[in-house]
Amino acid sequence: MLQEIKQNNLNLTVSSQEMGMKRRLLLVLTIVIVIIWFTSLRNRGTIGLSESVSSELEIAALKQNLAKLSSECRSWKPSRLDPHLPVIYAITPTYARPVQKAELTRLLHTLMLVPNLHWIIIEDAEVPSSLVANLLKNSGITYTHLTATTPKEWKLKEKESNWKKPRGVQQRNTALQWIRNNLKADDQGVIYFADDDNSYSLEVFDEMRDTQVVSVWPVGLAGGLMVEMPVLDPKTGHVKGWNSAWRPERPFPLDMAGFAINLSHFLKHTEAKFSFNVENGYQESEILRHLATRDQLEPKADNCTKVYVWHTRTEAPKLQAEKQLNKKGLKSHGGIEV
Ligand SMILES: *[C@@H]1O[C@H](CO)[C@@H](O)[C@H](O)[C@H]1NC(C)=O
Ligand SMILES: *[C@@H]1O[C@H](CO)[C@@H](O)[C@H](O)[C@H]1NC(C)=O
Repeated sequence: MLQEIKQNNLNLTVSSQEMGMKRRLLLVLTIVIVIIWFTSLRNRGTIGLSESVSSELEIAALKQNLAKLSSECRSWKPSRLDPHLPVIYAITPTYARPVQKAELTRLLHTLMLVPNLHWIIIEDAEVPSSLVANLLKNSGITYTHLTATTPKEWKLKEKESNWKKPRGVQQRNTALQWIRNNLKADDQGVIYFADDDNSYSLEVFDEMRDTQVVSVWPVGLAGGLMVEMPVLDPKTGHVKGWNSAWRPERPFPLDMAGFAINLSHFLKHTEAKFSFNVENGYQESEILRHLATRDQLEPKADNCTKVYVWHTRTEAPKLQAEKQLNKKGLKSHGGIEV
């Protein structure tokens, strides 16, 4: 009996011993599971971290791509112009001088903002310069790059006042000839003479776009006045005169920047062009006398009450120090295009 009990006790002891081992095993297992769970949590954390680092890098790369694409978009316009909107043919004569690139960059960056514009730029040079060619090539603007040299007898001599001889005649006529050779009477367009030193508000291009014959508007800082402009008849709304102070007897006493011409109207009047053989200040009158009577002029810019273009002039820069360098065979700009 005792034996039996002992036996039982032993059994009991054994079973309680087994129980203890099982419990320990369970504990160990639990600890292991907890450790595994923790490690996996930590690992998940590190995966999360590396994921967020890599997605940040990805976002940065995408942002860079976006910036590149949007800059490409800005400088990219379809070379095919919109056929539903009249094209503005902006004619700009230009010539090499220290401020040339600055002036052309300023004008180009205005013209890039004008929809459906074709820039005709004519250099007073034997061959196209790389300065102008590069500027145009990288702009994405629709353009035609021409050259035309001023005949020797009409070239300004150094120190000769720039009003002594007509300027830009050969270049503007070359552009007009290009238009006659390349465009048709049913093309929808407007011709505008946009010199490279003026300042333009975008509104002036909106105003001229529906010109039927010849449109006119005020020009700021022209002809010795704050504004030189057409004077309208309040009853008819037509141009009845001008406020010009300088040579007011001219048939059309206005600035080159103050009018635009309907393309098909221009193409019908083959004699319309500029001339070397007219007095100083008569270039505008010379071309317009073939194209319109004063009564036909279309006043723009809210009946000529707004100024959207200014006849600004850039002061010639003082380059004495550069000349000193040049005497020594040196240049401040070496291979840099300025
Ligand atoms: C130019 O004139 C023609 C003929 O009158 C007209 O059909 C055309 O629409 C005009 N162009 C613009 C830009 O208004
Ligand atoms: C311009 O003047 C004409 C005639 O005087 C008038 O009918 C028209 O409404 C005016 N336009 C603007 C934009 O002021």
